[in-house]
Amino acid sequence: ITHVLDTHLHADHISGGRAIAEQTKATYWLPPKDAEEVVFHYQPLEEGHNVTIGKTTIAIQPVYSPGHTIGSTSFIVDDQYLLSGDILFIDSIGRPDLAGMAEDWVGDLRETLYKRYKELSNDLIVLPAHFMVIDELNEDGSVGKKLGTLFAENHGLNIEDEAEFRHLVTDNLPPQPNAYQEIRETNMGKINP
Ligand SMILES: [Fe+2]
Repeated sequence: ITHVLDTHLHADHISGGRAIAEQTKATYWLPPKDAEEVVFHYQPLEEGHNVTIGKTTIAIQPVYSPGHTIGSTSFIVDDQYLLSGDILFIDSIGRPDLAGMAEDWVGDLRETLYKRYKELSNDLIVLPAHFMVIDELNEDGSVGKKLGTLFAENHGLNIEDEAEFRHLVTDNLPPQPNAYQEIRETNMGKINP
């Protein structure tokens, strides 16, 4: 392991990224806009800075894609795969991670999904961070679909009216985990449970 990358600063689980990086002496990459309060050394993950792994160049191209958090970053791997983190799923779209920021971040989310992702190749295979229902799995158990297919089939990518989109995203936001603030501070290295 030579590189560890987090798509965003997580609020719902303690990331293993830092521990893995420390144990393996790997480079730990974080989106700088999510990492303003981070107290340990990390490598800022910024658009245009490809991360090359191994001798065969598997370039990981970061794409700034805010909306779930302000720093959320997607990765294009090998011109074939789009690791969308918590921004886009197979059957749904991401939501602002902090309910208090929902109104501020919903515009970013729309911009990411409807403009930035729209400019990417439809042939990229989207690999999201998770799924919610079993229907999102392919027959072989994998979770991934072409971006073009998602633009055709995913309801969250097909809401023309901006106000309606805003409602869909900000209404009924799931409750934040009780410990989300401590989880975030742990991921920033500020506290150590
Ligand atoms: Fe997340």
